[in-house]
Amino acid sequence: MKVFVVFGTRPEAIKMCPLVLELKKYNDIECIVCLTGQHREMLGQVMEAFHIQEDYNLDIMKDRQTLTSITTSILERMEPLLKEVKPDIVLVHGDTTTSYAAALAAFYQQIPVGHVEAGLRTGDIYSPFPEEMNRLLTDRISTYYFAPTESNRRNLEREGISRNIFVTGNTVIDAFAYTVSPGYQFHDKKLAALFDTQTGEKSKIVLITAHRRENLGEPLRNICQAIYRLSREYPEAVFVYPVHLNPMVRETVWEVLGEISNILLIDPIDVLDMHNLLSRCFFVMTDSGGIQEEAPSFGKPVLVMRTETERPEAVKAGTVRVVGVEEERIYREAKNLFEDSAEYDLMAHAVNPYGDGQASKRIAKVLLEQSAHKTAGK
Ligand code: UD1
Ligand code: UDP
Repeated sequence: MKVFVVFGTRPEAIKMCPLVLELKKYNDIECIVCLTGQHREMLGQVMEAFHIQEDYNLDIMKDRQTLTSITTSILERMEPLLKEVKPDIVLVHGDTTTSYAAALAAFYQQIPVGHVEAGLRTGDIYSPFPEEMNRLLTDRISTYYFAPTESNRRNLEREGISRNIFVTGNTVIDAFAYTVSPGYQFHDKKLAALFDTQTGEKSKIVLITAHRRENLGEPLRNICQAIYRLSREYPEAVFVYPVHLNPMVRETVWEVLGEISNILLIDPIDVLDMHNLLSRCFFVMTDSGGIQEEAPSFGKPVLVMRTETERPEAVKAGTVRVVGVEEERIYREAKNLFEDSAEYDLMAHAVNPYGDGQASKRIAKVLLEQSAHKTAGK
């Protein structure tokens, strides 16, 4: 069976690499990796960490790229490739424009699509933008659904999808087996120095990421203002913010938070640094999707700087709180975690609603079964 795995951004790569490594174990599967290259450096970091060499790279990234340019480049470059390779199935992941465009390109060649991380929903097509629509369209196109949780399965069923839904857990949890280790030494020089001088990791590290399209401009400025106030109020804490390479993110972040002694603005860190930092930080402030799934495993409270989430499981479990994008609320919620240890303890417990680290194995098993059915039917 020829399995053509397509991904293009950092989070997709982090969640697809464990699956690629799993698929490569089976003689009955030929696993072909195609990167769209929607991201460049940030994607390269992940491929290096997992020691995976892609078979194809569409290399589409442009500075300040638009949704239209991403979509059209992928469609145009995938068509001849799919005609040449003729895969039995195309696997895409999640909700990026790569996921949707690659699924559409496969559909145009009448190749079945398997959607890894299917069924997440906020119910608002403009938030997150354009990810909610990307998910809806990708699920509409797909034949096989690998849903991380039962609640994701119910979302699909509510939309009339009744066949081929497999609840597998999220492959992001599988990634920890490759990334997290006790006594880990950080690759990033500033992080390595921080942990060196912190004798016993005494300082409280607040880990921050924010980059979403719908947060660009005013919301991101609010987020930064709140962090600025917190850094003044808690000079003994260290605010570590690996800043996304999008120039529109970097301009705002450096303008508000540059040159402040206890704010460490660094370039995106590799996934090994990131997961180990997650395991050692005090709490997390983020607008990321993936980090909402990762931090709860480490028992780290997460303040989600968005107006909604498609990942209600850890909110229900109490480790994740959606705090919006207004400066005052973000500031107060973070202050609470510094000041109120009872409140902190309530949020800081490890929960793992997103999987047991075996999601890739379950997906591989489904693919092998489908392949066996197909062969038997011939
Ligand atoms: C994309 C996804 C988003 C995901 C995010 C993960 C879409 C529409 N958005 O958003 O769902 O959460 O990735 O990070 O699919 N850039 C570089 N080097 C890189 C990566 C990005 O320079 O390695 C810069 C480029 O100028 C690029 C810009 O960042 O044009 C934006 O990248 P893009 O993929 O369009 O958007 P993200 O915000 O990264
Ligand atoms: N991540 C990383 N380095 C960073 C920031 C994030 O490796 O500097 C990882 C993070 O642990 C998670 C993923 O990237 O696995 C999340 O990516 P991002 O926030 O870009 O996308 P989203 O999850 O919001 O789609």
